[in-house]
Amino acid sequence: MCPLFSLFILHMITGAAAQLRHGYYSETCPKAKSIVQDVMKVALIREPRSLASVMRLQFHDCFVNGCDASLLLDDTPTMLGEKLALANINSLRSYEVVDQVKEALEKVCPGVVSCADIIIMASRDAVYLTGGPYWEVKLGRLDSLTARKEDSDNVMPSPRSNATFLIGLFAKFNLSVKDLVALSGSHSIGKARCFSIIFRLYNQSGSGRPDPAIDPKFRQKLDKLCPLNVDQNITGDLDATPVKFDNQYFRDLVAGRGFLNSDQTLFTFPETREFVKQFSIDQGKFFKAFVKGMIKMGDLTVDQPGEVRKNCRVVNSHSSKFPMHPS
Ligand code: HEM
Ligand SMILES: *[C@@H]1O[C@H](CO)[C@@H](O)[C@H](O)[C@H]1NC(C)=O
Ligand SMILES: *[C@@H]1O[C@H](CO)[C@@H](O)[C@H](O)[C@H]1NC(C)=O
Ligand SMILES: *[C@@H]1O[C@H](CO)[C@@H](O)[C@H](O)[C@H]1NC(C)=O
Ligand SMILES: *[C@@H]1O[C@H](CO)[C@@H](O)[C@H](O)[C@H]1NC(C)=O
Repeated sequence: MCPLFSLFILHMITGAAAQLRHGYYSETCPKAKSIVQDVMKVALIREPRSLASVMRLQFHDCFVNGCDASLLLDDTPTMLGEKLALANINSLRSYEVVDQVKEALEKVCPGVVSCADIIIMASRDAVYLTGGPYWEVKLGRLDSLTARKEDSDNVMPSPRSNATFLIGLFAKFNLSVKDLVALSGSHSIGKARCFSIIFRLYNQSGSGRPDPAIDPKFRQKLDKLCPLNVDQNITGDLDATPVKFDNQYFRDLVAGRGFLNSDQTLFTFPETREFVKQFSIDQGKFFKAFVKGMIKMGDLTVDQPGEVRKNCRVVNSHSSKFPMHPS
C-alpha cells in the first residue's frame, strides 16, 4: 500500500462524532433514506435472514478501526482484507445486499453516499423491518482506503467468550455492561453454524462434557442438529423467533436456551444477569437500550483518511497518491 500510510497515526476516538450528524444527505441525496429502505424491503421478501446478516455487518465493521466499511473490501494481490478473518470467513454474508443498495444510490446520486453510512442505515432498517424499534442515525462517515485481516482477528470476539471477557472488550469501545447485553440482543434475529457451538455441546472448556448451563431438552435438540461429525456449516436459529426482532432472545437465555456460549454466559454470570432478566420481561426497555447501543457503536471512528467508494468492494482508483479527503 501507499507508504504514506505509515505517517498517519491511527487512533481510536470513541464518541468524537463531531462530523457525524442527522440529515447529512438531506441536500446532496434526499432520497438516500428511502432508497436504502426499499432495497431492504425487497431483501426481506427474498430472504428474511439476509436482514440479520446485514445488521451483523455493523458490529464487524465498527469494532475494527471504526465504522469505515473496511470489512467490505475484497482482497487484492497486495491486500489481505477482513473477509477472511476468523470471525468472518464462511460466516459473514449478504454482502450482495449492500451492493444492491449501493447500485441503487449510485444511480440517483453518484459518489455521494458512503458504504460505511449504507451499513449504518441498512442495519437500522433491518431491525425496524423485522419488528424492532426505529431510530434516526447520524451520517457522514467515509470509507477506508484499506483493510487488514489481522485488525479483525485482534478484536472480534469468539463465540466461546464469557461475560467477563466481553465486558472488558466492550469497555475498550466505551460500551457499558448494559450496552453489551442490549447489543447481544441483536441475536434475536439470524442463525449461527454448528461450528460455533460444537465445543460447548461436547467439550466445554476442555472438560469433555457439555456446557452445564444448557437446558437438557434444548441440548437434545442441539445434539440432533449438530452431531459430532456433522457438516459444521449447518445452521441453527439464534433464538426461538429468528426472523422477528423481539425480546425472545432474553427469555430464551433465562430458560437456558441460548444458542452460543457468549449468549448463555450473559445469564450465567452475575455481572450481566440482571440486565438479561430486565430485558426478558420488558421489551420496551430492551429496545431503548438497544437503540442507545447501536448509536454508540455507530459513533466509533478512527482518525484516518477516507473517501466515498463507488463500489463498496474496491477502493476508488486515485490519479494522485494522496487521499481525496483527509479527515
Ligand atoms: C457480544 C459479542 C458477540 C459475539 C461473541 C458474537 C458472535 C456471533 C457468532 C459466532 C455468530 C454466528 C456466526 C456463525 O456461526 O457463522 C453471530 C451471528 C450474528 N451476530 Fe453476533 N456476536 C456478538 C455480538 C453481536 C452484535 C453486537 C451484533 C449486532 C449489533 C451481532 C449481530 C449478529 C447477527 C444479526 C447474527 C446472525 C447473522 C446471520 O444470520 O447471518 N452480534 N454472532
Ligand atoms: C462514552 O460514552 C458516554 C455515554 O455513554 C459519553 O457521554 C462519553 O462522552 C463517551 N466517552 C468517550 C471518551 O467517548
Ligand atoms: C473468562 O474468560 C477469560 C478469557 O478467556 C478467562 O481468562 C477467565 O478465566 C474466564 N472466567 C471465568 C469465570 O470462567
Ligand atoms: C477437549 O478439549 C481438551 C482441551 O482443549 C482436549 O485436550 C481434549 O482432547 C478434548 N476432548 C475431546 C473428547 O475432544
Ligand atoms: C464450510 O464451507 C466452506 C465453503 O464451502 C468450506 O471451505 C469450509 O471448510 C466449511 N467449514 C466447515 C467448518 O465445515
